[in-house]
Amino acid sequence: MKCVWRFLAMLLLSGGGNHAVAAEQLTIDLTQWKPPDISTVGDDPFGQLVKYGHALFTNTANEIGPGVPEPAKRYAGNNLACQSCHLQAGTQPYAMPMIGIWGQFPQYRGREGAVDSIEDRINGCMERSLNGRALPLDSQEMKAFSSYMRWVSTAVPDGARLLGAGTLQIHEPDRAADPVRGAKIYAQVCSACHGPNGLGMRAENGLGYQFPPLWGPDSFNNGAGMSRLLTAAAYAKHNMPLGTRFDSPLLTDEEAYDVAGYIVSQNRPEKANLDRDYPIRFQKPVDSPYGPYADGFPSEQHRFGPFGPIRAKVKELAAVSRTANSGGPDNGSYHSEDGK
Ligand code: HEC
Ligand code: HEC
Repeated sequence: MKCVWRFLAMLLLSGGGNHAVAAEQLTIDLTQWKPPDISTVGDDPFGQLVKYGHALFTNTANEIGPGVPEPAKRYAGNNLACQSCHLQAGTQPYAMPMIGIWGQFPQYRGREGAVDSIEDRINGCMERSLNGRALPLDSQEMKAFSSYMRWVSTAVPDGARLLGAGTLQIHEPDRAADPVRGAKIYAQVCSACHGPNGLGMRAENGLGYQFPPLWGPDSFNNGAGMSRLLTAAAYAKHNMPLGTRFDSPLLTDEEAYDVAGYIVSQNRPEKANLDRDYPIRFQKPVDSPYGPYADGFPSEQHRFGPFGPIRAKVKELAAVSRTANSGGPDNGSYHSEDGK
């Protein structure tokens, strides 16, 4: 197992005094990490939950999708799988991997303006990416998901700095995304799998997809992280077409930006009560496709960019806010190459 042990000396000067506290933070490089093997999991009670969690994660539509026989189990509102986005059962670096995520919670999240548990975060994707309803905390399904998160994070110390987590941001062009140019790239590179109409292709057997939809009624809703242009661009550049890895992208930054512009220009399910998101308004990501916004820029610019001017304004607002310490403007899940 290769992991990078790096010690960052941080000097924390306590107000007025001479006390210097050195803190060490371990970095785990997920791009070099060997994930644990699901076939080695046993049949003890924890192992059974881990295996059920793996099934829920990789085969979501057939386990808890809108078409399963038992109505009480229809938690998801579309036929995507968690793995449709979190590739390779949540182990692919820069495809929002689940490895080590266990030890990053509880964490402050701007979207809720509160400290989230890992269960809150799982339900965030249930209600948005899966366009469904929240799993009850005491359900077998929630226990299985969180057990899977715990297991897939095996050997990663809690609170480690993770390289390869989230998505890897693109170098953002200094202009609005161009959906017309994006449509051409889509037709050339994406439509062979995701379909000319973006509605994907159903699996030969069962309820899921061989190629998931990118928009339309069975896609993620407008409250999902993937409905943000910069998240979709970062994700597409470093993971698509299927088989692409972050270190060998096919799309250029400009192409990823425009194809993401095309995707976010399409219709998808709308989530209710989105005005309750980001109660501290300046923490809303600049590319959030829904208002209200604190900065006065039109929703068109929030959807397609350019984002530089919005970012500058939001920074100003953050600087004068009394709650700035609860977290800066939310940059979502994307990271620069040094993992910051
Ligand atoms: C070779 C087939 C293929 C091509 C080409 C391809 N994809 Fe995908 N894409 C997939 C598959 C398969 C998944 C789901 C992964 C899984 O289920 O393991 C996926 C998932 C996605 C997702 C997340 C899931 C969702 O439903 O939103 C996005 C976004 C995406 N692709 C965008 C793109 C874009 C943009 C392009 C073109 C630049 C593209 N893909 C090209 C096969 C492909
Ligand atoms: C349509 C794509 C998509 C699907 C499907 C999806 N997610 Fe996510 N998920 C994301 C994105 C994008 C993020 C990054 C956060 C953001 O920007 O909103 C994320 C973040 C997460 C995180 C936090 C990861 C981190 O780095 O902190 C967890 C946990 C999670 N998802 C669990 C799930 C589970 C469980 C499912 C299935 C029930 C699921 N997701 C389905 C797109 C998706």
